[in-house]
Amino acid sequence: MAGKKITVLKLREMKERGEKITMLTAYDYPSALTADRAGIDVILVGDSVGMVVLGYESTLPVTMDDMVHHTKAVTRARLAALVVADLPFLSYQVSVAEAVRNAGRLVQEGGAEAVKLEGGRPVVEKVEAIVEAGIPVMGHLGLTPQAANQLGGFRVQGRDEETARRLIEEAELLQEAGAFAVVLECVPANLARTITERLRIPTIGIGAGPHCDGQVLVYHDVLGLFDRFQPKFVKRYARLGEEIVAALQQYCQEVRQGIFPGEEHSY
Ligand code: KIV
Repeated sequence: MAGKKITVLKLREMKERGEKITMLTAYDYPSALTADRAGIDVILVGDSVGMVVLGYESTLPVTMDDMVHHTKAVTRARLAALVVADLPFLSYQVSVAEAVRNAGRLVQEGGAEAVKLEGGRPVVEKVEAIVEAGIPVMGHLGLTPQAANQLGGFRVQGRDEETARRLIEEAELLQEAGAFAVVLECVPANLARTITERLRIPTIGIGAGPHCDGQVLVYHDVLGLFDRFQPKFVKRYARLGEEIVAALQQYCQEVRQGIFPGEEHSY
């Protein structure tokens, strides 16, 4: 695994070579293993765990303990992919000291190799302090779900000139603060292209068009395991939710009809 292990340095080299970076969320041991076996470069233990695994309406109720628990389950899979864990709502906004301590928990207790946090100018000081503590930081700009109430919902960001200019400026601020990459969520493709061209660090897009250095999607969206809603940027590569229901219906039927267990399953 040593040669294959993805590091923050390798991601920077991939950008320099023009090689696209693949990133996917995972929240437990089996999802992490399948993503790693598929050759995903970066696994994000996202706070989207709150919606697709824990059944919340948003990411806001997710706690540090939730994130540590799920990050541990992912890192037990001993992955070639770089493991990035999300700092959840209120774990880094209050103070620089709390931001460093909580980033440290994701690394020390969870086994993460990097952390991600949302926002631009207001988090720059926190990014600097976490990086100074030796923890790589991924930024997240555009539609930042932890601030959805303030943004007026889940809407594309940066359509007007002023917001677009601010997003470019904030991406550069994050780079200067030491971030090793930045997620761009729900921004116009041309804006994502401008940011990608201006930064030395990789951009990872989700609903940000094809010009980013990499792409990220949520595991359950890609595999058709979450159907409460489907944003325009999601492409489903499988319908596993439907396959699971069909398989479980067959199991129920076979038990009821006395077909399962057969002789081959009996002692
Ligand atoms: O939590 C998450 O899944 C994310 C991705 C959508 C980037 O932050």
